[in-house]
Amino acid sequence: IDDHFNDKPLQGQRWLITAGPTVEPIDPVRYLANRSSGKMGFAIAEAAAKAGAEVVLVTGPVNLLASSAIKRIDVQTAQQMFEAVKSEFKSIDTFVACAAVSDYRPTEAAPQKLKKQSDNGLTIELMQNPDILKWAAEQNAAFCVGFAAETNNIEEYAEAKMTKKGINVICANDVSRKDIGFSSDNNEVSVYYKNNGAMQVERLGPALKTVIAQQLVSFLPGIK
Ligand code: CTP
Ligand code: CA
Repeated sequence: IDDHFNDKPLQGQRWLITAGPTVEPIDPVRYLANRSSGKMGFAIAEAAAKAGAEVVLVTGPVNLLASSAIKRIDVQTAQQMFEAVKSEFKSIDTFVACAAVSDYRPTEAAPQKLKKQSDNGLTIELMQNPDILKWAAEQNAAFCVGFAAETNNIEEYAEAKMTKKGINVICANDVSRKDIGFSSDNNEVSVYYKNNGAMQVERLGPALKTVIAQQLVSFLPGIK
């Protein structure tokens, strides 16, 4: 694959990738987030850049470095990620939504640190965040790839998600497994896509996320 990428097969293409978690403030010191490390999204960004694509990487807070060839945009919240994606969504060939976008955010972030009150529990009201990938697919302008982290009924949910969001490909991974997925360096991905209306699946890994990313970046243009 390394040799194949030396031929820069993605030269002239612009890839937009989201990565990492989003972080939704509850008050100035507390937030709602998830366990995404960003490793899969960063690996895809690196692989696409190595293959010659111009890469824009919109990422939530992660402990990772991106090589200088990649245009990296750091965001915190889903709304900020959505704004960044919208502003970069020009002449995009492939959009890969690898971010674990928080489905909900606190309806209002308290301007001051919340104080503990009485002996009762606390209810935080949440509202839904925009679906960035669904918006991207609705633009009908890029080949759209989603990721689905599931704990059960993986194939069924992956197919339903593909249809619901109107996307071209969904890469499903089983986050109930401890050895792969979230924060691990390894992953195992089932890539679902349609060929003349018939569901197809390509299984990648188990392997390092960097290897899966290279395989995915080689595989996707062939089914576009
Ligand atoms: N996604 C997105 N914006 C959101 C939620 C999800 O762009 N607000 C993207 C993710 O980056 C991922 C894909 O949609 O590529 C699927 O995310 P997932 O959480 O599995 O799907 P949901 O539609 O949010 O369904 P659920 O969480 O209920 O399984
Ligand atoms: Ca979700």
